[in-house]
Amino acid sequence: MKVPNMIDAKKRHQNKINYTNYNNDIDKFGNNRKFYVRTYGCQMNEHDSEKIRGMLLNAGFIPSEDINDADIIILNTCAIRENAHDKVFGFLGVLKHMKKTNKELIVGITGCMAQEEVVINNILNKYKHVDFVIGTNHLDRLLPVLKEKIDTKKRQIEVLSYEGDVVENIPVNRDSKYSAWVDIIYGCDKFCTYCIVPYTRGTQRSRRHEDIVNEVKELVKDGYKEVTLLGQNVNAYGKDLYKDYTLANLLNDVADTGIERLRFVTSHPWDFTDEMVDVISNRDNVMPYIHLPLQSGSNKILKLMNRRYTTEEYLKLYRQIREKVKDSSITTDIIVGFPGETEEDFNETLKIVNECKFDGAFTFAYSPRENTPAAKMSDTIAEEVKMDRLHRLNEVINKYSNESNRKMLNKVVKCLVTGISEKDENKVCGYTENMKLVNIKGDKSLIGKIVNVKITDTKSFSLDGEYVE
Ligand code: 5AD
Ligand code: SF4
Repeated sequence: MKVPNMIDAKKRHQNKINYTNYNNDIDKFGNNRKFYVRTYGCQMNEHDSEKIRGMLLNAGFIPSEDINDADIIILNTCAIRENAHDKVFGFLGVLKHMKKTNKELIVGITGCMAQEEVVINNILNKYKHVDFVIGTNHLDRLLPVLKEKIDTKKRQIEVLSYEGDVVENIPVNRDSKYSAWVDIIYGCDKFCTYCIVPYTRGTQRSRRHEDIVNEVKELVKDGYKEVTLLGQNVNAYGKDLYKDYTLANLLNDVADTGIERLRFVTSHPWDFTDEMVDVISNRDNVMPYIHLPLQSGSNKILKLMNRRYTTEEYLKLYRQIREKVKDSSITTDIIVGFPGETEEDFNETLKIVNECKFDGAFTFAYSPRENTPAAKMSDTIAEEVKMDRLHRLNEVINKYSNESNRKMLNKVVKCLVTGISEKDENKVCGYTENMKLVNIKGDKSLIGKIVNVKITDTKSFSLDGEYVE
């Protein structure tokens, strides 16, 4: 049993990345056992859960709607902030009780927490009811590990600190029939000092562009209307694999498949080139929505975060996108309370937010992650100061997202209708081209279609609208 270790996880070798194919010759050992997957964290994790379900279905397991009915429960975990951890450990407590009444229940952990040394040690010593753990870089090993657990009844911990391969053709059971996620690059080599991802997701490794394009061609054939290209830093696409093939080339090639809507997340300002901005503005099916994390408005803090850009450079890129991409929507991520952040630094953040007037933002209080460089920085900020700054920042952010939504009022816009509205079961809901959620007066037959919607009212986090012919 090998426990991951953060020093090894940091190593980056120049070894060539192995491209392999998923081995689909597996016994159907599922025997109609029921499984339940609970997902925490980002879209990458959501998509990994689609792969987990795909692999299990292929081996004859069946999905369970009700967790109490499941024979196998998998927690696909996130490690980005402490509260993500707390949720998982809290839920493991609940599962311990469930295992008391159902001795045959199998509990597994996948995702980013599985790559953390402290978490694995904790599981080994305290959470003995966890039956198997699989790291992010070898999710394709799910079935052999699960089979070993079932056959031997012994606990399986398979987590390695190695940098990872690219495994193609893992079966996927997608959540939606209209909108699909497609991985383009795994891992991250940026090493922002606050961030655990480069340790949990391994080295940056791009999928081959022909594999990506072929996957999207299949999705188009299957009737998908929208594809979102996924990566921790999609703008670095190709850097590890090609001399001169970048995200700009990939966006063009994927747009050529005829997919009606093409999106991508997440961008890093450092790798965002003029060519990429041009492709987004020139191709009609590349959607005008860019998530561009800023993290801080203070150059001192950006440097401590190892973000590799200044606020001036960020603003230049931001203005260029606003100018060139018609009707674009730009959202961001901001962290408050990073070590050393003074009131002045925080005011700089407010200043740039007031300048950019983001269409929306995810804001976070800094949360130290074990073994990252920032966790060792001494000048820490008190929790109440962090919360106060977060509160003040959110007020400004909400003002601009309201304004941004307000601008949509009375416009007729195109929406991809994705399902029944969560707010009102007599309505449907969908997303505009610039990624705003709309609750739409219209019937269920619209689901799966791109239709015209007139915006009739706006709220802070959504719009109301009605279907127009
Ligand atoms: N503390 C708080 N927020 C964090 N993020 C990443 N790491 C941390 C951390 N240690 C935020 C960043 C990132 C988003 C996904 O989560 O803003 O862009
Ligand atoms: Fe969470 Fe980051 Fe892992 Fe996604 S990649 S699950 S956000 S830690």
